[in-house]
Amino acid sequence: MSLSRRTLLRAAGTAGLALSPLAAGGQVLRAGPADPTAPWAAAPAAASHPDPRIRALAWAVLAPNPHNRQPWIAELPGAAPDTVVLRCDLDRRLPVTDPFDRQITIGLGAFAELARLAAAEEGRAVQVIAFPEGEPAPRLDARPVAMLRFGPPGSAAPDPLFRHAAARRSTKRPFDNSRPVAPETLAALGAAVGAPVRFDATIAPDRVARIRDIAWRAWLTEANTAAAHLESVDLMRFGRAGVAASPDGISIWGPGIEEGIAAGQITRESMLPGRPGFQVMVDRYTPMLANTPAYVWLTTAANGRAEHLAAGRDWLRVNLAATGLGLGLHPVSQALQEYPEMRGPVAEMQDAIAPDGARMQMLGRLGYAGPVPPTPRWPVESRIRAT
Ligand SMILES: Cc1cc2nc3c(=O)[nH]c(=O)nc-3n(C[C@H](O)[C@H](O)[C@H](O)COP(=O)(O)O)c2cc1C
Repeated sequence: MSLSRRTLLRAAGTAGLALSPLAAGGQVLRAGPADPTAPWAAAPAAASHPDPRIRALAWAVLAPNPHNRQPWIAELPGAAPDTVVLRCDLDRRLPVTDPFDRQITIGLGAFAELARLAAAEEGRAVQVIAFPEGEPAPRLDARPVAMLRFGPPGSAAPDPLFRHAAARRSTKRPFDNSRPVAPETLAALGAAVGAPVRFDATIAPDRVARIRDIAWRAWLTEANTAAAHLESVDLMRFGRAGVAASPDGISIWGPGIEEGIAAGQITRESMLPGRPGFQVMVDRYTPMLANTPAYVWLTTAANGRAEHLAAGRDWLRVNLAATGLGLGLHPVSQALQEYPEMRGPVAEMQDAIAPDGARMQMLGRLGYAGPVPPTPRWPVESRIRAT
């Protein structure tokens, strides 16, 4: 076990002593993940917690993040009760598909923005100071990703986007292709984004078809690149018990799946190329990527850590705005990734969506779909370290 994981677990064990446990209506929430989606109910229930940082962090753990790795560690310095020091849990990165930790940093940006919005909801400003001890490169290190400084009551006004935090999802579903996305809708999503991040989107059929084609070929490239695919397979959690034991990664659970797991048909090995589980995965993603009426993407002029963090903050905002408009948004990141096998699709995608050379940070499918259940999360207590 690595040092950071050990330290974190120790901190998780003491968090219940150092911090008052989250309580709602007399019910004390346990650190143990009995229901893997319990943190979605715990976030509003945390409103009664005495520490405004914990109230905000209970929401922040619901942020979108790559492969649901939940790479966040929130340090609560005893000497600075208005501060959260946000670090990356370096064991939770994706070294094959995200070799420079760009996407992991985007997820941490989404976390910081959700914390900020949750605090604003109760009237507190949160200043997000990016990489206060410098920008690590080429990979992240133990230095803080951000410092969150909480202001007093009355220092901020609520942001209407926060209303959609509980309903926000990454919508991994085919969209209804008979329901077009209106141009005004795209403009409303773009309004959620600000410098240094640029928002673009398209509903033009030719352009949508071109992006869809590249995105699908990139997806197949990833599935057929052994190291990249294995990185995903290693993170699969099978069945309710497996998901409850590790409520992160790629959750393979739900009606119809539990039976296959119990029968030994759905296993880690079955997900390897040429095996039945692999084909099930291809069959699931084929209609998903095919049924896409619109795409949105975020770019930045520079490609430093501050831009990655800013892109994550704005992706969360676009995701919330889409939720508020009844739309589903689903990141499709393969053709933006920096490992060698992806060079061809990356060049094609660059030409299709950012021919001016801007750095592609996020690409998402956009459209209308039915409701999607929440994804699992580790409880907030397990991600907090009292220092
Ligand atoms: C930087 C980043 C990249 C992502 N890339 C993909 C992707 O390529 N395919 C995908 O299905 N989901 C992708 N996601 C979505 C995550 O899988 C999702 O946020 C996570 O599983 C948690 O689910 P939720 O967003 O519904 O809460 C990405 C998310 C982020 C922040």
